Amino acid sequence: MKIGMVGTGGFSRMHAAIFTDMTDVRFQAVCGTSQEKAAAFAAEYGDANGYDNVTQMLDQEKLDAVYICVPPFAHGDVEQQLIERGIPFLVEKPLAVNLKVPNEITVSLQKKNVITSVGYHFRYRDTVASLKKELETCTVGMVTGGWMGSMPLVPWWRNRDTSGGQFVEQTTHLIDLVRYTLGEVEEVHAVEANRIMADLHKNVTVADIGSAILKMKSGVLVQLSNTCVLPDDVLEIGLHYFHSGGIAKIDQAGLTKCTSSMEVKEKDSVNPYVRENEAFLHAVQTGDTSRILSSYEDAFRTQEVTDAIMKSVESKKTVQLGGN
Ligand SMILES: NC(=O)c1ccc[n+]([C@@H]2O[C@H](COP(=O)([O-])OP(=O)(O)OC[C@H]3O[C@@H](n4cnc5c(N)ncnc54)[C@H](O)[C@@H]3O)[C@@H](O)[C@H]2O)c1
Repeated sequence: MKIGMVGTGGFSRMHAAIFTDMTDVRFQAVCGTSQEKAAAFAAEYGDANGYDNVTQMLDQEKLDAVYICVPPFAHGDVEQQLIERGIPFLVEKPLAVNLKVPNEITVSLQKKNVITSVGYHFRYRDTVASLKKELETCTVGMVTGGWMGSMPLVPWWRNRDTSGGQFVEQTTHLIDLVRYTLGEVEEVHAVEANRIMADLHKNVTVADIGSAILKMKSGVLVQLSNTCVLPDDVLEIGLHYFHSGGIAKIDQAGLTKCTSSMEVKEKDSVNPYVRENEAFLHAVQTGDTSRILSSYEDAFRTQEVTDAIMKSVESKKTVQLGGN
């Protein structure tokens, strides 16, 4: 399989390191914001061809699949070109800064079926599979949790128009996990504020603290907090599920299941990013998409929730989600 990449940043590097290790995979071409960056990136992984224009890359190379690892504001044109040409793609989360571009891409995907995968890698964790199984045997009352970390210092992240803000950019992983384990969201109410980061850095337009209540269609209440005020490498990401059998806690370290008589800890045995890459490339090679756990259409529902959260922040009102 000949693979193309759009983007030459940190996460392009993460995926390239994984798929260049696989058999039957050739890293064929990469497109960056300049020819120099693309060439430098290509050189790190062998002899891929570098481009600064996606159309040119797609015209000149016969690619079997493309990875899209660009910031939230840069989505749209790349996906549309790939759909038009029928080329499968793995796109990093979030799908965009809001719903406009994902709406357009979803319409195109309805007209032309193309294999897609979205980088919600939590879904590929062993501990998440175990959590899902546990939740099938009990009734969940409520969930609390958060994405408490530092601010990524790339310029696009601190700008609300280019990243979408903390709920859209990073907390989206937890919102997707909530959907994956508990079903769809009925309504949201959220608040955000600025405490520290706008005084420390120039051009900060994203909030640095936030909190949202999600009411699920099942009736479960979910309270999610986030912040990006912490120093680098101080990080707390996770969810606590309070249910009829006890508490299930999932975080970066693994899953802890607590009942009145015992506490069991589980860890992930496989890197979920590897599993995500294998599932996508297996689908490209065989047409069997059953191992892909997040398609574009499914990730669209997560984007609808983060978009509703941002609408709630702006309007100071509870926002209902439509659909089923
Ligand atoms: N799944 C995860 O765990 C995870 C972790 C980190 C990042 N990500 C996601 O990956 C995406 C990229 O993040 P990153 O850390 O690689 O960012 P980055 O800033 O390191 O790199 C982004 C790259 O995008 C490219 N780019 C920028 N503007 C572009 C444009 N207008 N058109 C085409 N390409 C453009 C550039 O090559 C740039 O190097 C983000 O959406 C981020 O949320 C996901």
